[in-house]
Amino acid sequence: MTTSQPHGGTLINRFNPEADLTLAVREVELDAFALADLELIAIGAYSPLTGFMERGDYESVVERMRLANGLVWSIPVTLPVAEEDAAGLKVGDSVRLSHQGTVYGLLEVRDIYRPDKQVEARQVYGTDEIKHPGVKKLLERPNVYLGGPITLVKRPDKGVFAAHTLDPAETRKRFAERGWKTVVGFQTRNPVHRAHEYIQKSALEIVDGLLLHPLVGETKADDIPAVVRMESYQVLLRHYYPPERVQLAVFPAAMRYAGPREAIFHAMVRKNYGCTHFIVGRDHAGVGNYYGTYDAQRIFLNFTPEELGITPLFFENSFYCRACGSMASSKTCPHGAEHHVALSGTKVREMLSRGEAPPPEFSRPEVAKVLIEGLQALSV
Ligand code: ADX
Repeated sequence: MTTSQPHGGTLINRFNPEADLTLAVREVELDAFALADLELIAIGAYSPLTGFMERGDYESVVERMRLANGLVWSIPVTLPVAEEDAAGLKVGDSVRLSHQGTVYGLLEVRDIYRPDKQVEARQVYGTDEIKHPGVKKLLERPNVYLGGPITLVKRPDKGVFAAHTLDPAETRKRFAERGWKTVVGFQTRNPVHRAHEYIQKSALEIVDGLLLHPLVGETKADDIPAVVRMESYQVLLRHYYPPERVQLAVFPAAMRYAGPREAIFHAMVRKNYGCTHFIVGRDHAGVGNYYGTYDAQRIFLNFTPEELGITPLFFENSFYCRACGSMASSKTCPHGAEHHVALSGTKVREMLSRGEAPPPEFSRPEVAKVLIEGLQALSV
């Protein structure tokens, strides 16, 4: 068994394909973002949440990064619905939750409320600028929130990710079978470049196993699509990682781009998947210049190790140093920036789209090849 306990002590399971839908008063349409959250709640990835947040939890999370009962939780998990879907609904009603014509779940309505989205934006994202992709999404979504416990009645189709879909109960089982007592989780929305590999392997020097856990839910348009990234992770693992020390699985959540707050959320969720450790590097879940390089590390200081229940592993900005002849960070390299191979995400994406491989010190050639081919296949 791994030593990590689910957040709040119990792994939630709200999947019941036999649930009775006949008493539901109506059907409410979910966007892809909410559908992902519905499933993640049901499979226990968001334990201790059993549903979409009611106002008490929502306000407490927004204001103080805790659920109303005091447990650490940094990101609102809400169900915004259109005015017409909410009109006439009462507390005590239940509604079917559907997406593009298919019913996936049931919500027992315990709360119907209108959030102050400006406050939510400033507190959670640190800005109310519409050009922040998380804020943009927040403001675009409807203005009435429904709260209450959910039941998932049908699993969303996993498509190409089926082979790499593991619920928290399954990752926990795998870790136990492999005899891993300590497991480090790695969140990513990008291809794994050499810097990512370096920090993962640095962590692997001190723990038993790595859960490579790429986020494959909704991301902003200029991030590399998850289908292409998945290929790149597999080729990287095949060539450069010992298979007995790594588990690859997808994390189906939407990306919030909430930087520090999302780092806490990502850590809590990986704890539910059974990780004992979690990597937080530079500008975790950041976007543009909204967050300081290490803000997502500093935010962990707000909580005690006991209430987090997962150990964050912090890494400095890492790069290949030509003078050292190895990967390094400012903690291990004395040379100036002129010796360092560093490229911005935007620059890398541009190179790949042009069919140009980034230097091998930045990306493994096998990874670059898969990314170039994958992006070309998508653009035709
Ligand atoms: S994220 O939005 O999912 O955090 P990304 O996939 O780029 O983005 O990062 C995954 C993890 O690697 C994060 O913890 C991030 O802080 C870390 N990271 C990314 N690049 C570097 C780097 N060059 N040096 C140190 N840490 C990094």
